[in-house]
Amino acid sequence: MIHTPSLQELREKINPHNLPVHIAIIMDGNGRWAEKKHRLRVYGHREGINRVREIVRCSGNIGIKYLTLYAFSIENWKRPRPEVNALMRLLKEFLRKEVDELNKNNVTLRYIGHTHKLPESVQNEMKRAQEILKNNTGLVLTLALNYGSRTEIIDAVGEAVKDINLGKISLQDLNEDTFSKYLYTIDYPDPDLLIRTSGEIRVSNFMLWQIAYSEIYITQTLWPDFKENEYIEAILDYQKRHRRFGGI
Ligand code: FPP
Repeated sequence: MIHTPSLQELREKINPHNLPVHIAIIMDGNGRWAEKKHRLRVYGHREGINRVREIVRCSGNIGIKYLTLYAFSIENWKRPRPEVNALMRLLKEFLRKEVDELNKNNVTLRYIGHTHKLPESVQNEMKRAQEILKNNTGLVLTLALNYGSRTEIIDAVGEAVKDINLGKISLQDLNEDTFSKYLYTIDYPDPDLLIRTSGEIRVSNFMLWQIAYSEIYITQTLWPDFKENEYIEAILDYQKRHRRFGGI
């Protein structure tokens, strides 16, 4: 008989000395998950939030330092208005309901993307949650909201050119390290592990600069089915990889 390891057994397999410091996730497949169940797509997003809660909690428990979730891309505005509105509503609801639990778990919250273009009521909820969590020292949870990586890179170029014109830095000073400080992720380490659910093999304009050397884990599992056990499997898979960063 094949033994399916329990969550506890899986957790014990994790090597604490080789943990990914930063995990980034493209949470995909909510719509398909709902459609398979003959439900509206929003039902899938709602269940997706349960996985967000679970994965955030698990990340903190394991000792992951940074978790970045692709929650809403610049391209997602193209979706039907009711779906966009529902996603905004769910985001507000998540921030309102989860903040105490996040606080208990010592999580801080950051955002990347053109968040100033989100509805004001969403921005207010975002600020409120961020303020409550600002002194925590555990997991840094980053939500990518109205995020697009090409836009991020163009924004960074703009800021760098501004500083060059102001004489704050010289063109000669611009290198991979100094340029990366102009990205929204300013002081984060690059993701060690990028997870994408639902089997699509693409990066969809997500952290293009930062994932240059990330290990990629793609699973067929749709996001609403991506539970803690598979998250740990992804981390164990990462721990088997031999990272060479272009060397040998
Ligand atoms: C992809 O599924 C998922 C999204 C576009 C949004 C992800 C949002 C959530 C999990 C809920 C809100 C998040 C937070 C952090 C509160 P899809 O709709 O593209 O699915 P499909 O590819 O099957 O159509």
